[in-house]
Formats: sequence, C-alpha cells, structure tokens
Amino acid sequence: METGNGRNPAVIVLDDHQAVSEKAAAIFADLAVAASRTQGRFAVALAGGSTPQRLYELLAGRVYGEGIPWPLVFLFWGDERCVPPEDADSDYRMVRDAMLGRIAVPEANVHPMYSGLKSPEEAAAGYEEIIRQVFRLVPGQVPQFDLVLLGLGADGHTASLFPHSAAINEKERLVVADYVQALKAYRLTLTLPVINNAAAVLFLVTGESKAAILAEVLQGPYRPIDVPAQLVRPLGRLLFLADQAAASKLREQ
Ligand code: 6PG
Repeated sequence: METGNGRNPAVIVLDDHQAVSEKAAAIFADLAVAASRTQGRFAVALAGGSTPQRLYELLAGRVYGEGIPWPLVFLFWGDERCVPPEDADSDYRMVRDAMLGRIAVPEANVHPMYSGLKSPEEAAAGYEEIIRQVFRLVPGQVPQFDLVLLGLGADGHTASLFPHSAAINEKERLVVADYVQALKAYRLTLTLPVINNAAAVLFLVTGESKAAILAEVLQGPYRPIDVPAQLVRPLGRLLFLADQAAASKLREQ
C-alpha cells in the first residue's frame, strides 16, 4: 500500500469506479497476505454503502481473492444501519450478497454488527465485547485493525460518524450507537480511537457527487465537526483512492 499517513494522506486518482475497486482489491490482498504472515491473522473493518460493493465482488473472484488466506481473515464492519440483516439497507447484507457466499472465511470469523434482536445500545456494547474477545484486549486497550475501509458521504461523514454527532466526540468507547438526526435513524459505528489506531485506513471515493466533499476533506479548512472525515488521522497509513470524477475538484499539489 502506498505511503501516506494521518497528517499527509496519500491520494491515488484512477480512471473510474472499476479501476478504484481493482486497486483497492489488490491493496486488500497484499495487506491480508502480509498480516497473515507476520501475525497469523488479518483483521479488517469493512465499509458499507454502495461504493465498496464492487470491491467485495472482486475479492470473491479468482483474480484478487485466490491469494487471500481467507481462513486467517476476520471480517468486522466499520458501521451498520440498525436494521435486520435481511433488510435492503443492511451493510451486512450488501457484503454477504457481494462476497460472503464465495470466500472461504470461517463463519466464526465473520462479525456482523447488528442482528436486529437487540437495542442499538445493547448491540454496540455487544460488538465491543466481540472485539475485545477477538483481539484479546485488556481493559482500556484499543484494537489495531490491519485495515479499515471507509467511504465518504457527501456531507463529510465517514463510517457512521456524522457531522455534529455525539459519536465524533467519543474518546473511550470502541463502538457506539448514535441517533443520526439527518437520517432520523440509529446507526452503529466504530469510534475514532479505533479507526485512528488502525495500521492502514483506505478511503474509496468515486463519482461526481463526491468531488466537492473530497476537496473539502483533503484541501479545505480543518473543520472536523462539519467534516468528520477530517478526523480520520491514523497513526498508520492513510490512502484515498478516488476516480477522476471524485477528484475533479482537487487542486494540483
Ligand atoms: C454506510 C457507510 C457510509 C458510506 C458513505 C458513502 O453504512 O452508509 O458506511 O459511511 O461509506 O455514506 O456511501 P456510498 O458509498 O453509498 O456513497
């Protein structure tokens, strides 16, 4: 994965959504192989929404998926809508339909964020417990994901860290439930302490509709309450993959 860090993110502009998805799949595979070799596992937090769907389809395919040590991969979600897994809005369902049925990841390593059986708060607490168990955390310890995949909303949100939300101020919890006024709905999300502790964070941003916000995030004034994606400043590597359309408002550096 190209360098770039929380202070100076790397940005790679590719022709289109397919090219972004292919590059992301290659990076995912490289990181999975490297992490599996060095620590015997690859823990990744998946992004929701529509942008990463093609990436997940590619990971389930032979070209990119064949070299991935799926039995050593642990799949988490970076955020989730508080809807049952069968709901069309479920990020779990999007990933399941795009790849889960075609990769040899052990079912016990797949950790959906929301089952529909608990309240949002209970689900957030339960997910924290799963993370603590899988990462074998001691109290107060923050997990280090090998990779966190993120999308970018046109309003500057990422994961389910929305502008002016309580979730963006969370400094202790690993996962929180947040009522998002703009959506009139609850969301679950990894918190910034977790995202910013990741070894690598990869944003996938495509389409004309994201051009203005991507320029804001990368080149606009630092105003993180309005643009929470600006709060993603991992200790590890930070890379934005954008297509030409989404990068069309970026000033030449
Ligand atoms: C979600 C995502 C969210 C998403 C952005 C971009 O659950 O919706 O995690 O943060 O990445 O809203 O969504 P699109 O990829 O659909 O534009």
